[in-house]
Amino acid sequence: MSNKFKAIVIDNQNEKFTREIKELDKSFLKDGDVLVKVDYSDLNFKDAMILKNGGKLVKEFPRIPGIDFSGIVAESNDPEFKEGDKVILTGCRVGELFHGGYSQYAKVQRDFLIKCPDRISTKQAMVLGTAGLTALLCAFSVKAREELLLQSKVNDVLVTGSTGGVGMVAVMVLSNMGINVTAITGKPEKENYLKELGAKNVINRKEFEGEPKLLDKGTWDGVVDTVGGNILSNAISQTKPKGIVALCGNASSNKLNTNVLPFILRAIKLWGVDSVNISKKRKQFIWGEFPGLIDFSVLEKSIKELSLEELLEVFPNMLEGKLNNKILVNVNK
Ligand SMILES: NC(=O)c1ccc[n+]([C@@H]2O[C@H](COP(=O)([O-])OP(=O)(O)OC[C@H]3O[C@@H](n4cnc5c(N)ncnc54)[C@H](OP(=O)(O)O)[C@@H]3O)[C@@H](O)[C@H]2O)c1
Repeated sequence: MSNKFKAIVIDNQNEKFTREIKELDKSFLKDGDVLVKVDYSDLNFKDAMILKNGGKLVKEFPRIPGIDFSGIVAESNDPEFKEGDKVILTGCRVGELFHGGYSQYAKVQRDFLIKCPDRISTKQAMVLGTAGLTALLCAFSVKAREELLLQSKVNDVLVTGSTGGVGMVAVMVLSNMGINVTAITGKPEKENYLKELGAKNVINRKEFEGEPKLLDKGTWDGVVDTVGGNILSNAISQTKPKGIVALCGNASSNKLNTNVLPFILRAIKLWGVDSVNISKKRKQFIWGEFPGLIDFSVLEKSIKELSLEELLEVFPNMLEGKLNNKILVNVNK
C-alpha cells in the first residue's frame, strides 16, 4: 500500500472542535494488530453525535470517527486473519476510543474483527451495519419467548421507529421468521415500502404518543422498540401475557413512564439490547444468520451511498430526524 490514505479527522484543540478530511500517513494508526483496507462504513445516530462535537464519547483527539466498517485485511500477523480476508467491525468503541471506519485504512485489535460471511459482500455488510446487527439481536430476544421460555409461538410483533436503520431490518427479519409484523412510523408515505419489507400492518406513530393506560388490550406477543418514551410505554401496556419487549434505542426519548401492572399481572419482560458489549462468538453467530433472513434487493432501495465529503454535509440531518434513507459510506468514492 501507499503510506498515504484519506480519512475524516475530528479534533478539539483549545476547545475548538473541528472536523475535516485529511490525507494521513500510515504511522497515524498506532493501535491494533490487523490493518484493514476499508470498503464501506455507514451512519449511525452515535456517529452523528460524534461528528457533531465528539458526543462526550471521544476522550482523546485527534480521532478518526466511524463506529463500524467492512473491508479486506491488508496486513496481519495473526493466524486468524490473513491478507485478503473479508472482515466486519461493529462496536468495541471503535470511532470513539480507537480510530474508526471513516477512513480508507483502519488498524484494530484482532479481537474486534469478525469474518464476513461468504454470502454477504462488504457492501451488504454495511447496508446492515451496527443497526442491522442490533435488529437481529432484538428479533432473537423477542423470539426467546418461544425458544427459552417454552411459550407458544410468537405471532404478532410491533416494531417502532420502523423506517430507521434498526427498524427496517427488524421488520424484514421478523417477517422472514414467519411473524406478523406491525410497523409504527412517523412517515405514512413509507407505508408501501414498509409492506415491501414485510410489514403486515402500518400504524401512524401519533396513535402511540398519548399517555399510556395502566394496562391496555393485550395485542403484541413481542415488541422491538428503538424510540423509548411514550411510544414504548404504550407498547408495554399493550403487550400480551409473557410477551418480551426488546428495547435498544431512544430516538424519541430517554424517558420511560410505565407502571408495575404489565409486569406483575402479565409477567411481561423488558429486555435491554446492547450491540456493543457482546462476545465475538455471538457476533459471528448473528452475522452468520443474516443470509437466510435478508433480501438485499429490497433493503438496498432505502440506501443512499455517500463519499466522506458528502457525509460531512449530510450527518446533521440524522440528528434532526430529517433523513429519509439509510446512509452507506463508500470511503473510496
Ligand atoms: N443498543 C444498541 O446497541 C443500539 C445499536 C444501534 C442503534 N441504537 C439506537 O437505536 C435507535 C434507532 O437507531 P437507528 O439506527 O434505527 O436510527 P435512525 O435510522 O435515526 O432511525 C430512528 C427512527 O426512529 C423514528 N423516530 C425518530 N425521531 C423520533 C421521535 N422524535 N419520536 C418517535 N420516533 C422517532 C423514525 O422512524 P419512523 O419515522 O418510522 O417512526 C426514525 O427513522 C437510536 O436511538 C440508536 O441510538 C442502539
